[in-house]
Amino acid sequence: MKEFLSKLRKDYNLMSLSETDCGSNPIFLLEKWLGEAANAGQSEPNAMTLSTVDASGFPSSRIVLLRDLSNLGLVFYTNYTSEKAKQLDQNDKAALNFFWVEMERQIRVQGRVHKLSKVESDAYFQSRPRLNQLTAWASPQSSSIPDRAHLEALLKATEEKFANTDVIPTPPFWGGYRLEPVCMEFWQGRPGRLHDRIRFVKEGNTWEKERLAP
Ligand SMILES: Cc1cc2nc3c(=O)[nH]c(=O)nc-3n(C[C@H](O)[C@H](O)[C@H](O)COP(=O)(O)O)c2cc1C
Repeated sequence: MKEFLSKLRKDYNLMSLSETDCGSNPIFLLEKWLGEAANAGQSEPNAMTLSTVDASGFPSSRIVLLRDLSNLGLVFYTNYTSEKAKQLDQNDKAALNFFWVEMERQIRVQGRVHKLSKVESDAYFQSRPRLNQLTAWASPQSSSIPDRAHLEALLKATEEKFANTDVIPTPPFWGGYRLEPVCMEFWQGRPGRLHDRIRFVKEGNTWEKERLAP
């Protein structure tokens, strides 16, 4: 395995990243990079790794999907009783990471997370396919369950419960979070591992920019 892994070696030579390329607003740059990743055929360009920390300081990471982006921050949706939600209840500091191999790019984000208003979560919930609405109701996300059949039985019971309901309401235990970034780092792969890294740090209401060594 060691030999196999040591032979996996990709050189990055598609693009470069200068301070000027970055502009002055990292949210605009993230928006631009997302569009470019999608155009380059990157599958699920809005998939990002969310890292949270539990009460004992243990970090934990999983993928969630970016569902809104503005100067206010980055939005994702989940179950408010899930493991990640319990961790965010105790510690609202979190990190997000995008990796777009097609673009040889990575973005790291740190910030504080807060729940969206019910109005915002409802609006997004109504845009979801009916099956996804039903599974949000049915699945006790991150709870231990006996087997697959149990999960399918939960879904069946939920389907029956809402069989005569056209507009399925948002579960009270489900909704969005917005991460308000305080730090965002843009990484562009370069030949020989001499990569470009530009980090934005929020100072009051303005973003300061600095270059980091790769
Ligand atoms: C591509 C992809 C997209 C996902 N999107 C979401 C999402 O938007 N929200 C969510 O709660 N879980 C999503 N998941 C599942 C999470 O990675 C994770 O399994 C789940 O949220 C439970 O995490 P937790 O136990 O840490 O709370 C996604 C997984 C993958 C692989």
